[in-house]
Amino acid sequence: MRSPVPALDIISHSPEQTRRIGMHLGRLARPGDVYLLHGPLGSGKTTLVQGIARGLEVEDYVQSPTFVLASEHSGHLPDGIPVRLYHIDLYRLEEPGELATFGLMDYLDDPDGIVVIEWPERLTSDLFEQYLLIELEFVADSKRRLAFYPSGERYQRLVSRLKAEVAGGRRRPAAPGD
Ligand SMILES: Nc1ncnc2c1ncn2[C@@H]1O[C@H](COP(=O)(O)OP(=O)(O)OP(=O)(O)O)[C@@H](O)[C@H]1O
Ligand SMILES: [Mg+2]
Repeated sequence: MRSPVPALDIISHSPEQTRRIGMHLGRLARPGDVYLLHGPLGSGKTTLVQGIARGLEVEDYVQSPTFVLASEHSGHLPDGIPVRLYHIDLYRLEEPGELATFGLMDYLDDPDGIVVIEWPERLTSDLFEQYLLIELEFVADSKRRLAFYPSGERYQRLVSRLKAEVAGGRRRPAAPGD
C-alpha cells in the first residue's frame, strides 16, 4: 500500500511543464527502474513519458502506443550509457494472460531497460517489489497534479533528487555580479 502522503507533490500548469518534470526524471533514471503512471484518461501520463524520453535523449517521438501495448526507444543516460525506454500502455489489456504475449517480463528483465507503465492497475498481481508510483490528477484545463510515491530506497533517493532538480529549475541561479 502506498504512503498516504506523497514524497513530492507538484502542480503542473502546462503540458510543457509536465514534460520538463519528466525530463528531469529521465535524466535521473537508472537501468532497471520501473515507473508506474496512474491517472485517468487525459491526465498527462503520455505527456510525462515524452519528457522522460527527452531526458533520456530519445530521438524518436513518443506517442501513445494506442494499438500496440508497448513501444521501445533507444536513448542515453547523461553519462552516455545507452539505455532502452519501454513505454507500456495497458489500457487495452483485456486479460492478464496477454502479458505473456507482449513480453512485459522480457522488458522487465532487460538490464539496460527503463520501464514506464500507463494503466498499471490493469496488472492483477503485485509484479514489482520496488517502483516509483506517480499519480496524475486533472485539476483544471491546463493544470495537473503529479504526486510521487516512491516504494523502496532507490526510489526514495530518486524522488529526493528530483525534488531538488525541479525546485532548482524554478529559481534562477545567481549570476556573477548579481
Ligand atoms: N499541465 C498539463 N500536463 C499534461 N498534459 C496537459 C496539461 N495541461 C493540458 N494537458 C493536455 O492534456 C492532455 C494529456 O494527454 P495525455 O495523452 O498525456 O494523457 P494520458 O494520461 O496519457 O491519457 P490516456 O490515459 O488516454 O493515455 C494533452 O492533450 C495535453 O496537451
Ligand atoms: Mg497515454
